[in-house]
Amino acid sequence: MTSKNESLHVDSYERTWIIASIILVILFFIAITIAGTMMGIQVPGQVGRVDPNTVAQSGEFAEPGLRELAPGKYEAHVLAKTWSFDPREITVPKGSTVTFYVTSSDVQHGFKIQDTNMNVMVLPGQVASLTITFDEAGEYPYICTEYCGLGHAAMFGKVIVTD
Ligand code: CUA
Repeated sequence: MTSKNESLHVDSYERTWIIASIILVILFFIAITIAGTMMGIQVPGQVGRVDPNTVAQSGEFAEPGLRELAPGKYEAHVLAKTWSFDPREITVPKGSTVTFYVTSSDVQHGFKIQDTNMNVMVLPGQVASLTITFDEAGEYPYICTEYCGLGHAAMFGKVIVTD
């Protein structure tokens, strides 16, 4: 005789894994919430679209670089192109908060600033943005993290944080 419940039978191993997966999802959700609200971890935002063919001719990326918005508050427009970053150097005083806007005028690049949590993909046509606070003086090299051709390894620059 078969009861209706038998079709719903869940093996004990299966049950264990179902419960474990649910616990994992809950843990991940808690981890993301803590990272996003307490540890300053941000998802790179796509803040706008540009035409990669004209981005270097007009607008904010025509004259990329640092702009001071308020004391200690900056924005930096960085244009990635084969095979360099414009600008190659950005200098700010210690404690500065810099909002980076990065785009590419040709192929896909990457933009990672060492010793910070800045690491974004740089896609032609799209502007990626992250905000970083530099609490310690020193040099923070930025590098291209996506293979973009022969000169990929030469594609770097640095943020200089002065005391
Ligand atoms: Cu640009 Cu690799």
